[in-house]
Amino acid sequence: MHILHSLSDLQSRCAHWRAESVITIGFVPTMGALHEGHMSLVHRAQRENTRCIVSIYVNPTQFNNPTDLASYPQKTEEDVRMLQAAGCDAVYFPQAAELYPQGMQAKQYDLGRLEELMEGGARPGHYQGVATVVESLLAHVQPAKAYFGLKDYQQVAVIRRMCTLLQLPVTIVACPTARAMSGLALSSRNALLSEAHGLAAPRIYQSLQWAALNRDGFPLSKLREAMLEKIQGTDGLLRVEYIAFGDPASLEPLDETCALPMNTPVQAFVVTQAGAARLIDNEAI
Ligand code: PAF
Repeated sequence: MHILHSLSDLQSRCAHWRAESVITIGFVPTMGALHEGHMSLVHRAQRENTRCIVSIYVNPTQFNNPTDLASYPQKTEEDVRMLQAAGCDAVYFPQAAELYPQGMQAKQYDLGRLEELMEGGARPGHYQGVATVVESLLAHVQPAKAYFGLKDYQQVAVIRRMCTLLQLPVTIVACPTARAMSGLALSSRNALLSEAHGLAAPRIYQSLQWAALNRDGFPLSKLREAMLEKIQGTDGLLRVEYIAFGDPASLEPLDETCALPMNTPVQAFVVTQAGAARLIDNEAI
């Protein structure tokens, strides 16, 4: 596996591959602290392309909270070992100055309501930072396809919108959320969970599964109350920040006052603070 530390390393590696044969590059951008969720993106990129590149860069402009940035888990050597074992072709560690040639600040994209709804409202500036770094990474790597996990459902919508606004020649591939046996969505932030919080956290997905089975006949407001009770339980370990029900395409909130007609598509989103970790999850219900 090639370990690339600069844009010129990356460009000469890709030029070399292109001179050898016709290649398509599948790209998996990450912030490291890799887990099986990332590896499922890597495997998919490998199946669908002749070369797979993973980037590792903890992007400061998408952290609206300095404590969150400082505590973001990092384990570079282990990440490299995992990628090597998976047969990944290259790992790219971009230089901040090359990603942000104009200085470390986010550009401003017209993200419409995505910037106000749910994570847009809860983390001001977060999606501008994500869009900025992903645009820059895509310009560096120039992949045919880029792979993102649907755990960050709204992030995928933001990235698609940025690519459409800029007419970028890349296919964005959204991949299913990878889960532990307990149902907990895999996330680098799970490393911050204490044992007790780790045992409580699967209640988040259990509440989403329960909602999928029980959504018909209830107004969504009642469904939220029941989900809240299921997640919070009586131990006080999980603090729900919000539960939202959105249209799966626009993410716009749905009417919560009356029972929805059967078969109305609904995406349910849950954000919970579990000790030091802020956990997000979503599911079609
Ligand atoms: O999902 C992530 O890990 C990050 O938001 C991304 C897409 C790598 C951008 O920094």
